[in-house]
Amino acid sequence: PRTCLVTGAASGIGHATAALLRQRGHTVIGADLHAGDIRADLATDEGRAALVARARELTGGRLDAVVCCAGVARFDPVTIRLNHFGAVATLDGLLPLLAAGTAPRAVVVGSIDSVHPTDPETVAAALAGDEAAAVAAARAAVDRGEGHLVYSSSKAALSRWVRRTAVTDAWAGAGVTLNAVAPGVVVTPLTRPLLDDPATRALVERAVPMPLHGHARPEQIAPLIAWLASPENALVTGQVVFADGGADAVLRGDGT
Ligand code: NAI
Repeated sequence: PRTCLVTGAASGIGHATAALLRQRGHTVIGADLHAGDIRADLATDEGRAALVARARELTGGRLDAVVCCAGVARFDPVTIRLNHFGAVATLDGLLPLLAAGTAPRAVVVGSIDSVHPTDPETVAAALAGDEAAAVAAARAAVDRGEGHLVYSSSKAALSRWVRRTAVTDAWAGAGVTLNAVAPGVVVTPLTRPLLDDPATRALVERAVPMPLHGHARPEQIAPLIAWLASPENALVTGQVVFADGGADAVLRGDGT
């Protein structure tokens, strides 16, 4: 049995992943805003530091897998704070625990939205690690009526951070794999309000065409995350794996 930490474990994809890992006999430490073994606001520095400190206490300093699912899709700078900087701080903070683990693996949840238009300033600031500048750029996008770009920017930045970071000495050199799973539309509390309203549902269906099976359930994303987080994954690192019912193939065609 492995010891795994899952953020966003109280709902949706994180909940399904934590349940699957537990069902397979692993120990899961669930982290979320108001529920689970570790309660922390990962949009803040204090919450991120608290998560790492508590994880160290609960595990004795060894983790075999970390899965970052916590995320929001609000037209607000909190979306870049949580989705990008919260995940990066979780992974950077827990890397020493992973390095002490067995067949250590890290997985983040990206999104099909990362292939949609983004706000280049928000993405550049996020990749530069400058949270204040990224928040300012996100706020500017919201103020000019492009709040939807904050979410796509957060996922584009996170996916590119994964590709850059996975191959560094600190990660690959320590034997820790790092990948992103990019879902299409998954029916969870995050998307339900959009899907319940016929007008926004039509927009979502046009933006994210899913020819295979239509909209997904969180239980259909969890097994891929679990595999990437398992010792069976010997060679996959630095990848953004689309679990999207074909949406990326439709949207980008021959683009690779
Ligand atoms: P969800 O809303 O069901 O779960 C998100 C979890 O994150 C919740 O338990 C929530 O309490 C937690 N959370 C929110 N703010 C937090 C904070 N400040 N600190 C710590 N935890 C916080 O959403 P869902 O759909 O399961 O999303 C999980 C991940 O998957 C997110 O990163 C989301 O962006 C991503 N995703 C979701 C898609 C979908 O269609 N549902 C598609 C592509 C990506």
